[in-house]
Amino acid sequence: MAMPTQNLSPQTNATDFLPLKGTDHVEFYVGNARQAAYFYRAAFGMSLVAYSGPETGQRDHASYVLQQGKVRFVLTTALRPDSDIARHVQLHGDGVRAIALWVDDAHQAWLETTRRGAQSVQEPTEYSDEYGRVTIASIATYGDTIHTFIDRGHYTGTFFPGYQTITHDPIARPVGLLHIDHMVGNVGWNAMNQWVDFYANVMGFSLYQHFDDKDISTEYSALMSKVMANGNGYVKFPINEPAEGRRKSQIEEYLDFYQGPGVQHIALATSDILATVSALQRQGIDFLTIPHSYYTELQSRVGKIDEPVEELERLGILVDRDDEGYMLQIFTRPVEDRPTLFYEIIQRKGSRSFGKGNFKALFEAIEREQALRGNL
Ligand code: FE2
Repeated sequence: MAMPTQNLSPQTNATDFLPLKGTDHVEFYVGNARQAAYFYRAAFGMSLVAYSGPETGQRDHASYVLQQGKVRFVLTTALRPDSDIARHVQLHGDGVRAIALWVDDAHQAWLETTRRGAQSVQEPTEYSDEYGRVTIASIATYGDTIHTFIDRGHYTGTFFPGYQTITHDPIARPVGLLHIDHMVGNVGWNAMNQWVDFYANVMGFSLYQHFDDKDISTEYSALMSKVMANGNGYVKFPINEPAEGRRKSQIEEYLDFYQGPGVQHIALATSDILATVSALQRQGIDFLTIPHSYYTELQSRVGKIDEPVEELERLGILVDRDDEGYMLQIFTRPVEDRPTLFYEIIQRKGSRSFGKGNFKALFEAIEREQALRGNL
């Protein structure tokens, strides 16, 4: 069924050699996809829309496709120990394996990136069933994380050939999540610029914002971050590296427990953060808590905002403003027992920032949690 495509399409846009239509999906390798899927459905409100496993002829793994708005997650687990999926889970715990990017031509995306030095993980391969065909190809990025290019222009099925469609999910309790705003990678000491160069040279991204250890430091720890964005700005990847501080930084804690670089957090956009976060809290999602002093200073720092400050404080939502407007954001605790991947819920009201004014309050909140875990 799988056969490589051979046709090359001409480059249509000389300024963007890797045109991306957005994030297609994020694939996680997990220890028990059935139970992880229940968490994402009941707590995050995602709907199970497709499934692949032994019942559909898949012998060595099972995958659950979950969707809410344009956010699509695939939870994949190994059915046997001798598998790359099982090895990934043993080393990293549950985590992101693939950030899949939606393209018009997966073959061309693979060619353009590999000729610029990307390491190929999967050559362009076409899969088909009665609903049409999908072409995918993959390249390596930081750690064991990969980027998959996926072209589904000739496919009318729910997700991918071989998946069974689930038409109704009685467990899903949607909370208003719309799309992925950004996905952040943690890389090792002094490795940020190497990965910034990778996104610039191999994938045609450019530097969107930059934060140094003076922007992002507390009494104890520091980090540096550069945000890379693709040509149309639909895909944004901040890259963090640890910086020297008096204690262990949250990035070092992540690198210790993930056993290397990987995805640190996924920011999910909503148009009503008060409603979304209220629902998530009701459904069992744990967020970082922010001290009262943050809210007494809030109005003088960000000026007039639409949301009542006491509501923001009750929920623990942070606010930041720049020249273009403001944004509201909140961060979950890690969603695994290892202090690795967590989520951000974000609502933008004009601002395109990443919450620089909140970094100190946020990192102090994370450090309180690190101290509880004995990792500060
Ligand atoms: Fe973020």
